[in-house]
Amino acid sequence: MTTTVPAPAPAPAPTPTAGPLGGDRRTDALEKDIMRFRTVSGPDLTTRNDAYLAWQLDRQQADLWPYFRHYETPALTTRATVVSDTGVVTDGPNFGGQDYLSLTSHPAVRDAAHQALRDYGPLTAGSPALGGATPISRALEAGLAEALRTEHVALFPTGWASGFGTIRALMHRRDHILLDKLSHDSLRQGAAASGATVEFFRHLDNDAVRRHLSGIRANDTKNAVLVVTEGVFSMDSDTPHLAELLGVCREFGAQLMVDVAHDFGAMGEHGGGQPEVHGILGEVDFVVGAFSKTFATTGGFLATPSASAREFVRMFGGPQTFSSAITPVQTAVALAALGVVTSPEGARRRAAVAAVATRLRAGLTARGLEVMGDVVCPVVPVLIGDTPTGRTASGLIARAGLVAHLVEQPAVASDAARFRMQAMADHTDDDVDTAIDILDTCIREARRTTAR
Ligand SMILES: Cc1ncc(COP(=O)(O)O)c(C=O)c1O
Repeated sequence: MTTTVPAPAPAPAPTPTAGPLGGDRRTDALEKDIMRFRTVSGPDLTTRNDAYLAWQLDRQQADLWPYFRHYETPALTTRATVVSDTGVVTDGPNFGGQDYLSLTSHPAVRDAAHQALRDYGPLTAGSPALGGATPISRALEAGLAEALRTEHVALFPTGWASGFGTIRALMHRRDHILLDKLSHDSLRQGAAASGATVEFFRHLDNDAVRRHLSGIRANDTKNAVLVVTEGVFSMDSDTPHLAELLGVCREFGAQLMVDVAHDFGAMGEHGGGQPEVHGILGEVDFVVGAFSKTFATTGGFLATPSASAREFVRMFGGPQTFSSAITPVQTAVALAALGVVTSPEGARRRAAVAAVATRLRAGLTARGLEVMGDVVCPVVPVLIGDTPTGRTASGLIARAGLVAHLVEQPAVASDAARFRMQAMADHTDDDVDTAIDILDTCIREARRTTAR
């Protein structure tokens, strides 16, 4: 016997409004954990998330929703105009974009994009496995190999795909993956999808890695162990002691993967990121990264000393065979950006972004705000703490004319909401000082109103 479930009448698309919101709905908009909506049940996939939508609209109405805004100006200029779905216009210093060395506006980078479009058109023939490469891809692979002192490089359509695809391809059911507890979503999902046994170690704690590895190796010497970390953790602006971590891996016959999305190009004397800073450039087994923070385009890569691992990932990494390759324009932009990164101009731009980040850190700290992390890198996270204060401050900051992103649960713990300020080499002192004033005023005001 079959049961017929009546189809619900289609609901009109709701439009967000702005205005006062009271009672329990306001409390929920201020406080409720988004993860409470994450797991739902019910037979109808088109209606069972309605409660989530109602909550989102309440947050939008109450000016507590900082997501899915759009840029009216180019997204990566130091000042920008951003508009929310409820029509709130933010026009001012832009610390919400990732273009650490300000290369999206560099003439050589833009010229390379135009030339690639003329030479190869807007799209590749298909996935990397099926003719998705051009001569520019080969040149970019060679350039990355040289910059990272690692022989074998494979390109991916995004940074996310490089972390996910590499782990997913290399690791198998009997293997073990040890991830830093704060690892990026792409690394966690790659680990989960691989079917290997996954363990997490305390953030940046190399002693904890040693304990985990010793436990794993006491029972299993036959299978692979991959230790996964990041060069710079962008939510926290901190970095592992990579040389020591590599030593621990070697001691237990484990391999090390480092995601250098935020540090490659932007840090290190020659732009080699934290592996260069820690003196282990070319020694890490698997380096994955993204072009989207420093190299002015989307795309990603794997760099490894192992020819067979590279070929295996190229054949079995999902995005290498079942997703179209990075386009000629993206490839050319990344290559031109790499040219700047590895030149004396790159060093000057790294010094400039470090100066912006240092001024921002110092100014915010002088106002009594807590700036997280201990490395001078382009990301400057400003700790707010509780979620209601974070959400309230984000609405005030948008109206005051500063583009800055709130990071809240589930990306961070519910008592650790923060603003992730992203410095660019071209930010002026005035941009920084305006940002400090707005953050200070709005966070104070948010603390005052949520304390009532
Ligand atoms: C550590 C890390 N890896 C990978 C990515 C993904 O990069 P992309 O946005 O270029 O896909 C990010 C971006 O947020 C990241 O922070």
